[in-house]
Amino acid sequence: MTGRDPVEPPEPTRHSSDPMENQDLRTRADALRWYHRIDLGQGVITRGVDNSPERLARARLPADLSGRSVLDIGAWDGFFSFEAERRGASRVVAADHYAWHGTGWGTGQGKAGFQLAREVLRSRVEDVDIDVMDLSPERVGSYDVVLFLGVLYHLPNPLLALERVASVTRGLLILETVVDMVGLSRPAAAFYPARELNDDPTNWWGPNHAAVTGMLRAAGFGRVDVMSPVRSAPFRAARAVKHWLAGKNSIPSAFRQDRAVFHAYKSA
Ligand SMILES: C[S@@+](CC[C@H](N)C(=O)[O-])C[C@H]1O[C@@H](n2cnc3c(N)ncnc32)[C@H](O)[C@@H]1O
Repeated sequence: MTGRDPVEPPEPTRHSSDPMENQDLRTRADALRWYHRIDLGQGVITRGVDNSPERLARARLPADLSGRSVLDIGAWDGFFSFEAERRGASRVVAADHYAWHGTGWGTGQGKAGFQLAREVLRSRVEDVDIDVMDLSPERVGSYDVVLFLGVLYHLPNPLLALERVASVTRGLLILETVVDMVGLSRPAAAFYPARELNDDPTNWWGPNHAAVTGMLRAAGFGRVDVMSPVRSAPFRAARAVKHWLAGKNSIPSAFRQDRAVFHAYKSA
């Protein structure tokens, strides 16, 4: 595990002491369904289903993004986009399509969560409505740092998607994904044609570490670092039982699954 950039935990956001102001913001935030847990300040953290702070720690974003441009692909409510801005990025673009129009958590509210957070945080993060498969330097430009977190396993054509992502990455790509068949050293991927992964029909592929590394190299990245160790057997066993009890997965399948983070560089 090696990284070129130091990472540090985020600092806490400011808090208002005005109870009326806090209540108004709480009411506005609670009127929406959130994926991310975003600290809006004034003591209000959005009630997202995702443990965003924990995933931020695992993603190992560079602590200092000063002067760097960042593209966040599949940004949803924008937690990672706002974090990149907070770390000093000179320009941040949040890109998404499915969650801002789809039939899942975003139903009926479009990108209202992202927009509320951007307003409250007085953020200058830009947004672009685009599908991963339509990414190109002509459409969105190219970026020093690209975030591709929690998206790869949702795509039916992952290698083609990584080629599109590579085309807009100038320097570092931070990729986080579900991995499956962990422990198998040969590049391989589990295929989920129906609801095999977490009872979610939007999940398609669970590549193992070697397959993700191989696809990143094939897509044009000269150096690929695995930034997250496979979590321990007891951790995965406990999680597998939890998933089985929730009716999401069988214990043997869930035991072979994990989430992993890769840092991939255009130059070796
Ligand atoms: C599990 S969420 C991850 C959100 C965020 N990146 C994170 O890591 O917390 C998956 C995201 O991928 C997006 N997504 C899925 N398929 C996509 C596609 N074909 N093009 C663009 N975004 C897509 C969804 O809209 C959603 O925002």
